Amino acid sequence: GIKIVTIGGGSSYTPELVEGFIKRYDELPVRELWLVDIPEGQKKQNIVGNLARRMVKKAGVPMEIHLTLDRREALKDADFVTTQIRVGLLDAREKDEKIPLKYNVIGQETNGPGGLFKALRTIPVILDITKDMAELCPNAWLINFANPAGMVTEAVLRYGKIKKVVGLCNVPVGMQMNIAKLLEVDSSRVRIDFAGLNHMVYGLNVYLDGNNVTNKVIDMITSENPSMTMKNIADFGWEKDFIKALGIIPCPYHRYYYKTRKMVEHEIEESKKDGVRAEVVKKIEKELFELYKDEKLDIKPPQLEKRGGAYYSDAACNLINSIYNDKKDIQPVNTRNNGAIASIDDDSAVEVSCVITMEGPRPITVGDLPVYVRGLVNSIKSFERAAVEAAVSGDYSKALLAMTINPLVPSDEVAKEILDEMLQAHKKYLPKF
Ligand code: G6P
Ligand code: MN
Ligand code: MN
Repeated sequence: GIKIVTIGGGSSYTPELVEGFIKRYDELPVRELWLVDIPEGQKKQNIVGNLARRMVKKAGVPMEIHLTLDRREALKDADFVTTQIRVGLLDAREKDEKIPLKYNVIGQETNGPGGLFKALRTIPVILDITKDMAELCPNAWLINFANPAGMVTEAVLRYGKIKKVVGLCNVPVGMQMNIAKLLEVDSSRVRIDFAGLNHMVYGLNVYLDGNNVTNKVIDMITSENPSMTMKNIADFGWEKDFIKALGIIPCPYHRYYYKTRKMVEHEIEESKKDGVRAEVVKKIEKELFELYKDEKLDIKPPQLEKRGGAYYSDAACNLINSIYNDKKDIQPVNTRNNGAIASIDDDSAVEVSCVITMEGPRPITVGDLPVYVRGLVNSIKSFERAAVEAAVSGDYSKALLAMTINPLVPSDEVAKEILDEMLQAHKKYLPKF
């Protein structure tokens, strides 16, 4: 049987993961699922753990659910370790989203200044986890969903103590589902060639039953017909002539780059109305945990779909299943580029369609991205590398460099103001600075 360790196991998303393992039990016999959390998360961990136990009991699968605060105890002889931590919890996210807005800059947890600070808080913790893994389960795969997933993967590839790491996001799955919905077909008939970076991924080609329908899809996603987003991102459509000239399908997060002004204005408006996304998510979480507490609940409640990460477990369980069973199917994941995208260094993390084997993901060669997006993608990669170096070193100048070269930040002076305010606000979770 398989032993899975989920760090950040008290997350409200965990029932999705449990459901994913239950559904696949015949091919992917998970005997032990260890939900690890920190003392601040213990209450949630207990509630989610008890729900998980009711779910496996109802499904009749012999999966043991273990709850612990002792990460090292859990990691011993694990086969797969999944990480879904949020360092500083939703309060830290709220700061990431609010502070940049004061300077009229995008306030978002994985893009711009917020993305930088989430990286600075998260990367040292994940690198510590890889140290424990190298010692306690050196053959295990690390499947990371913790955001910013691209930068975390970049950090583990360059500085981690283990080699087997894959970064995962639900954006590509979400794009596939949305495009299938637009085309009014089952999503299994749609295949997309994905390439780019995490939260900066493009669909280069879309196929329906083997026929290239990219242009048809591009025609459908203009401003007259939006509905190509996720729950956490405002659903603004694209200028028709722009998207036609681009010729490929952007991901929902590209709105922060191609509609920056509109997105900032929208965020400021929302922050006054319902609050920033962290505040909205706090409310959704409260509702979810009230539901999870109900002893009669023994399935994943549909309300979980209000979260932007809905269906992430499909991505996670499919990936683990394909590694375990050497399926050699194609899935988009964050992995070492290895030449797949010509203009990005071989040893950088990219999000790209890969063949998934028992040795891990093998990226499919793209050649290069279209010249019109190559610059932006490489700008973000430069930002990501500077951010990772700042997270590892605690170097102030590196952090200012990362903040300034981020395309969402207008100048070095504004970068410094935001950096100083955020360093102060997040002090507790930035021991290196
Ligand atoms: C998207 C991203 C995830 C992110 C989530 C946020 O789906 O792919 O990486 O965590 O949205 O959703 P939330 O409900 O927390 O705003
Ligand atoms: Mn994501
Ligand atoms: Mn800039």
